[in-house]
Amino acid sequence: MAAEGGDVHGEAALVRSFRPATVLDAGCGTGRVAIEPARHGIAVVGVDVDGSMLDTARRLAPGIPWHRRDLVGLDLGTTFDVVVMAGNVPLFTPPGMEPALVAGVAKHVRPGGLLVAGFSLDRGYAPADYDAQCDAAGLVLDARFATWSGEPFADGEYAVSVHRKP
Ligand SMILES: C[S@@+](CC[C@H](N)C(=O)[O-])C[C@H]1O[C@@H](n2cnc3c(N)ncnc32)[C@H](O)[C@@H]1O
Repeated sequence: MAAEGGDVHGEAALVRSFRPATVLDAGCGTGRVAIEPARHGIAVVGVDVDGSMLDTARRLAPGIPWHRRDLVGLDLGTTFDVVVMAGNVPLFTPPGMEPALVAGVAKHVRPGGLLVAGFSLDRGYAPADYDAQCDAAGLVLDARFATWSGEPFADGEYAVSVHRKP
């Protein structure tokens, strides 16, 4: 992708565009997204339920706090300027658990902060479902894009949604 001129750090670039001081990478996997803002001095925390993914994240970036936790019922006892869910995280959680997952991550958005999530729309989880779950968790839709580069959303196969906690 990089060889073809694509931006391999698109998610991190969008996150950084909001100029956060603190970021929670929710469903961080191997830390692909979290490591980039951390390199730019942003205080990043990563959470994932998968221990083997986190082993890689810890090897790649031992200085970042990585927590092995379920986002469902998550309580880190703190909030963040931006919480990011990149890479289809809601689609990888057990079916039916999406509302609790959204509530778990929304709890970690500070007042005035943002939840930014990107996921495919071809697996039965629609933006309207996600918006309703965000609404129930106290978040309002701020913007929706077709890509992490910010192209306008036009009912395509992918959505990047930005919700704000009032
Ligand atoms: C496709 S990976 C994306 C990883 C990373 N965000 C990225 O973009 O490279 C989806 C991740 O979501 C995590 N995940 C899904 N449901 C989760 C939950 N309920 N709690 C914690 N992590 C979860 C999975 O373990 C997996 O690492």
